Amino acid sequence: MQPKKFGVIGHPIAHSLSKPMHEAVFKKLNLPHTYDAIDVIPENLKQFIETTDYDGLNVTIPHKVEVMKHLDEIKNEAKQIQAVNTISFSQLPTPNSQLQQSKIVGDNTDWVGFQESLKEEGINLQNKNVLVIGAGGVSRAILVSLKNNNANIILTNRTKQKAINLNQQLNLNAKIIDYQELTTKNQLPEADIIVNTTSIGMHPNTEQSPIPKEFLKPNHIIFDAVYNPLKTKLIKDAESIGCKTISGVNMLVHQGAQSLRIWLGINPPIEIMKKEVLKKLNN
Ligand code: ATR
Repeated sequence: MQPKKFGVIGHPIAHSLSKPMHEAVFKKLNLPHTYDAIDVIPENLKQFIETTDYDGLNVTIPHKVEVMKHLDEIKNEAKQIQAVNTISFSQLPTPNSQLQQSKIVGDNTDWVGFQESLKEEGINLQNKNVLVIGAGGVSRAILVSLKNNNANIILTNRTKQKAINLNQQLNLNAKIIDYQELTTKNQLPEADIIVNTTSIGMHPNTEQSPIPKEFLKPNHIIFDAVYNPLKTKLIKDAESIGCKTISGVNMLVHQGAQSLRIWLGINPPIEIMKKEVLKKLNN
């Protein structure tokens, strides 16, 4: 088999979990492919994309939005999310020439990562009431997934106007609730699933949670997109009262798995990927 070259571009990139996660897959499946973590500074992004010999790339901070200017095609969900995290270079046949042009296609796998993390836990999103906290980049991907799965969306954000704008842009038909009210009064809306997409609780602010513990109920399913620390205060609080919880690690793994499906058409070994990521995060 012809070895293929994959990688992730970002700046900085030293602590990427994608490299060990993908390398573990290639090793497990005995594939000759490689995966690099490539530091690309913003000034070099255009040139890198246009001249690279990689077969597929993941894209991370700060390039996810900017990279869209340098692609030939952008898949629908990536357009909606307004961010690309996976690029494939598909070869186009050229007449009378041994040289092949490649078409650069951008996709976003975060929304698949979210829904697969829930599916893995046996959770079907259809007609579920889902409270989403936050209206940034992670939120956009999750909201697209919720919309595609016909969930009933309740959206809240510290800056309310951003939630209102997102609701309109993505045509979510979401109920917008006030963030201050939510976090200070015990008036959580009727929600089956609560999703934190903000950075609240992320290292080093590990003592913070977007929702006071006393507002949670055992029948809530809690998804926290934060995975550093592995168990955020929100997840710990929820576990302590008996809620089902899902960590952002699962979304990370499943978005990576979707990239591999796009590039190679393989069904990646999820457990191996998760094990490798947990090993790195526990170190
Ligand atoms: P990401 O790409 O990780 O989603 P982002 O686009 O910067 O990052 O979005 C961060 C989200 O977390 C926003 O919804 C932000 O709220 P604002 O829109 O009001 O800025 C939210 N957020 C971050 N820190 C927060 C805090 N301390 N309290 C409440 N919300 C916070």
